[in-house]
Amino acid sequence: MHVAVMGAGYVGLVTAGGLADLGLMVTSADINQERIQRLGEGKVPIFEPGLEELVRRNTQAGRLSFSADIQSAVRNSLVIFIAVGTNGGLNGEPDLSQIWSVADSIADSMEDYKVIVTKSTVPVGTAAQLRERISSRLERPVEFDVVSNPEFLREGSAVEDFFHPNRIVIGSPSGRAVGIMKDIYQRLYLNETPFVITTCETAELTKYAANSFLALKISFINELANLCDAIGPCTDIHVIGRALGLDGRIGSKFLHPGPGFGGYCFPKDTRALCTTARKFGVNVRTVEAAVEVNESQYLRVVEKVRQGLGGLADKTVSVLGLSFKPNTDDVRESRAVRICEALRSEGCTLQVYDPVAMAASASVLNGHAVKYCANAYEAAEGADALVTATEWNEFRALNLEKLKAGMRGDLLVDAKNAMDAAKAKEAGFRYYGMGRR
Ligand SMILES: NC(=O)c1ccc[n+]([C@@H]2O[C@H](COP(=O)([O-])OP(=O)(O)OC[C@H]3O[C@@H](n4cnc5c(N)ncnc54)[C@H](O)[C@@H]3O)[C@@H](O)[C@H]2O)c1
Repeated sequence: MHVAVMGAGYVGLVTAGGLADLGLMVTSADINQERIQRLGEGKVPIFEPGLEELVRRNTQAGRLSFSADIQSAVRNSLVIFIAVGTNGGLNGEPDLSQIWSVADSIADSMEDYKVIVTKSTVPVGTAAQLRERISSRLERPVEFDVVSNPEFLREGSAVEDFFHPNRIVIGSPSGRAVGIMKDIYQRLYLNETPFVITTCETAELTKYAANSFLALKISFINELANLCDAIGPCTDIHVIGRALGLDGRIGSKFLHPGPGFGGYCFPKDTRALCTTARKFGVNVRTVEAAVEVNESQYLRVVEKVRQGLGGLADKTVSVLGLSFKPNTDDVRESRAVRICEALRSEGCTLQVYDPVAMAASASVLNGHAVKYCANAYEAAEGADALVTATEWNEFRALNLEKLKAGMRGDLLVDAKNAMDAAKAKEAGFRYYGMGRR
């Protein structure tokens, strides 16, 4: 079976590589010609563990190819996955311009039956609008079905998630299309991956529900951490999080405090759910509260630096970790970047280091008052304070004595509680964590 994946970004590339590995003939298509050219040369433009190997293996096997010619990719495929961006737009409404642009290209090239699958995260009703838009643009009647197949992968473990998803949600009114989708994912089904077959609308809403629920957990534990900070060192958010997590009804994931949720998905998807709900005359107050809590959570970190240094003007602060989470170079809506921007706007000079996100963050932070360093020790050199903003594993293994010895000051603000507080104190740091001191 030939399939096309529109959009060669974090989701599209992993999907294309994964589907090829399942034995399908896959064209990964993107309007970004430079990206396609680099992929053709074997260069994967994003950092995602295991992706380079997945792409290389399937390109060499002749199952995966790259193209900027969207129309021929459509013509040659039975199934077309749409994995383009759906950026957060005005008032929380997602900007669907990339979806409509792909839809038009599909309509202009369709000659025979196609299954058109939205993998991008899109609001309720988008599949119906997609069907309508394509139908009205076709010059002659061509049969096609629309499927909503939302993606749940996590950046940083996206390849692993593709092959071992918790579930595959397929929304479509067409038995024929559902059959084709099941056929595609059959290898995963044999691994007993559960399918949830439903309407397009339910599938669309499920994706927003999943991200919003996880966001709720994050904002909840962050508020509890803030409460622990206010009560004092007799409380420890880690102990509370662990005790909560041992309750099977609650679960242990997403109960780690920090500077708030960031990344491409949670901020825009929570806002989009609130906007959708309001359109239908409903307030999802829990999600609205999670968003509101998140807006200011990163400022708690900035406040800890201010308190620890007795002011921020003319201070040098070292920030370790710039991506929105470990194991990715994605800095979209990264709280680490927000922390940097806030510190800089208050007069700090920054010395930053991230294992893979330096180039990406340079494009959002620009050069002013930021020194990009080759490693954590260089970043700490001469700094008044050190902030760990992303919990990369390599930071846990740092030699804290060496780090401290190079600094001018002794403040460590551990925004992800990633460091060993006792060892940090032994090394001479004044340690400020989140909800633990
Ligand atoms: N990143 C994640 O962790 C994640 C997880 C689950 C779902 N999603 C959803 O998946 C979608 C894609 O996210 P992403 O992070 O992969 O985005 P991305 O920005 O990394 O990739 C989008 C790609 O689409 C390409 N594109 C834009 N218009 C196009 C067109 N008309 N034709 C072909 N290609 C086009 C862009 O050039 C880009 O390479 C979004 O809706 C997102 O919400 C993302």
